[in-house]
Amino acid sequence: MEYQKLLIHIIILKLTWNFIILIIKMLARISKRLLHINQSIPHLKLVVCSGNEGKYNIERDIDSETYFANKKVVLIGFPGAYTPTCTGTHIPQFVKLQENFDQKGVELIGLAVNDPFVLKEFGQDMGGKIAYIADGSGYFTRALDAGLDLTEKGLGYRTRRFTALVENGVITQVNDENGGQLTAISSAETILKSI
Ligand SMILES: *[C@@H]1O[C@H](CO)[C@@H](O)[C@H](O)[C@H]1NC(C)=O
Repeated sequence: MEYQKLLIHIIILKLTWNFIILIIKMLARISKRLLHINQSIPHLKLVVCSGNEGKYNIERDIDSETYFANKKVVLIGFPGAYTPTCTGTHIPQFVKLQENFDQKGVELIGLAVNDPFVLKEFGQDMGGKIAYIADGSGYFTRALDAGLDLTEKGLGYRTRRFTALVENGVITQVNDENGGQLTAISSAETILKSI
């Protein structure tokens, strides 16, 4: 009898302990969720489409840490090449203000869950000289916690709309729309004013 009681106590203790660990893990997950200041750029191999004046190239196997080292970047997250808001408004805002970003010594890098063939064409069509990270499988977006689930719209997992200032591989400013919409939060003018 005593032995059974002891066993029940041990089981309850074990369950309580498991529950506490679960809560701690959930809190840790919440606190590291979403893009945040002081977050480092994930260390991955990137595919980058870059160029200018309507001529873009695809480069593979680019080390993300090397790519973001020793420079200031405005990282522009957007849900997809050729989607109406990105194509008609958001990316053109940056193309138009390119010279102003140049003057501040800041590079513009777009990020979308698209394959490089699409982003190469997109870059060429948009004009300007924004480089695009072609995150086709969403690894970089997931690692940044910058995703958006558009499965119900038939678009699958995407990058949500945001801008971030990245200095030497560390995020120092975040303007996160927390969705796909475009407001003043992630506009080109907003981040330009703050750098
Ligand atoms: C970022 O890191 C710096 C230097 O360690 C620290 O002073 C600052 O409070 C941090 N900011 C945030 C938002 O965590």
